[in-house]
Amino acid sequence: TTTFRILVLPGDHVGPEVMGEALKVLDVVEELRPTLKFERTFDLAGGSSIDKHGVPITEEVLQKAENSDAVLFGSVGGPEWANSSPGPETGLLLLRKRLNAFANLRPCEILVPSLIDASPIKPEIVKGTKFIVVRENCGGAYFGEKIETPDVASDLWVYTPSEVQRCARVSASVARILGRDGDSKGGGGPAVVWSADKANVLASGRLWRRVTQQVFDDEFPDIELRHQLADSMAMLMVKNPRGFNGVIHTDNTFGDILSDISGGIVGSLGTLPSASISGVPSEGRCNGIYEPVHGSAPDIAGKGLVNPVAQILSLAMLLRYSCLLVEEASAIEQAVARVFDSKDNGGLGVRSRDMGGEAGTQQVGDAVCAVLKGILSA
Ligand code: NAD
Ligand code: IPM
Ligand code: MN
Repeated sequence: TTTFRILVLPGDHVGPEVMGEALKVLDVVEELRPTLKFERTFDLAGGSSIDKHGVPITEEVLQKAENSDAVLFGSVGGPEWANSSPGPETGLLLLRKRLNAFANLRPCEILVPSLIDASPIKPEIVKGTKFIVVRENCGGAYFGEKIETPDVASDLWVYTPSEVQRCARVSASVARILGRDGDSKGGGGPAVVWSADKANVLASGRLWRRVTQQVFDDEFPDIELRHQLADSMAMLMVKNPRGFNGVIHTDNTFGDILSDISGGIVGSLGTLPSASISGVPSEGRCNGIYEPVHGSAPDIAGKGLVNPVAQILSLAMLLRYSCLLVEEASAIEQAVARVFDSKDNGGLGVRSRDMGGEAGTQQVGDAVCAVLKGILSA
């Protein structure tokens, strides 16, 4: 038996709702793979931790995270903590920093062709979109020195070469894994890497561009690297999303924004997962934080309406990167695709509201579990 220790931090608002469904999916994996055990420890982060302990994450929870094989994270924040300082979101930032989870992988794809109709973009433009944002996750404006007084506020947007280098190496390895045209067998060679910066305005952007170019010249001469200013990239991602198929390599702030554009492209944030890891993926087991791209969605919380798929696919990323359980991870991804796919394509046609359907949170979770059981017992 292999035992994995998972720290579960459901967080606030819809966090616990989507987490409940992801844990049901994990139960299915455990049931059908009797040699795998997922030992779960539950704790508080975000607003719920502020309410109980006065801080958005305790030192004890940070240590539990360090001593786990992976952290499954829901989402934190909400209007009721608008006046707390530090706020709920700081808990997540402290956790990323403590685990040195400097690479945040945020894939975006139309899971099955029938889901094109959930996108607000014309079908012929959006079809075939498949890219992964690799967002630098422990530096930049998020972590530079801060000044905050009533009269002045400042966030130092700072990068050193080594921070950019290690992120560039992850982007390059993701480009190899993904492959050109999303062909993960690598028949077409590595995917293109699009580096997004503001080298025309920001000193940190010029360093980003120079160091990234150097890493690719020295270490990855076979991978095509292209630079794009982050503002025009935001526009082009909407106008021609397929144009960025491959890897988008970018800084913390731009990565935050560009990965929410992914939600606009596919129609909702509700299906987009992420993995924050501390090294090149798939090189060995590594600790990481697995969380949806979306937030705590207070506007729909407590109604059973939230789409649990982003959390479920984040669990799949956890199995793939922190547990090296590639087959089980793919099975979850296939199950989600089949649940959402239309009936004429052999799918269940069970979709949540944000994707244009009627299904509630638990109904989607139950359908994924049922299909997954079939896949894992085949
Ligand atoms: P949000 O991502 O929570 O919601 C944006 C919109 O998308 C809302 O209309 C919401 O209903 C919808 N949405 C999001 N996830 C959905 C899902 N799974 N299914 C269906 N619809 C979904 O962004 P926001 O409203 O700007 O932020 C709310 C709070 O979440 C803030 O406090 C913010 O700081 C926090 N936040 C936390 C995380 C995290 O913990 N990882 C990430 C992003 C934002
Ligand atoms: C995200 C969120 C976080 C971020 C917040 C909650 C700290 O928006 O994960 O995208 O800005 O990184
Ligand atoms: Mn965000």
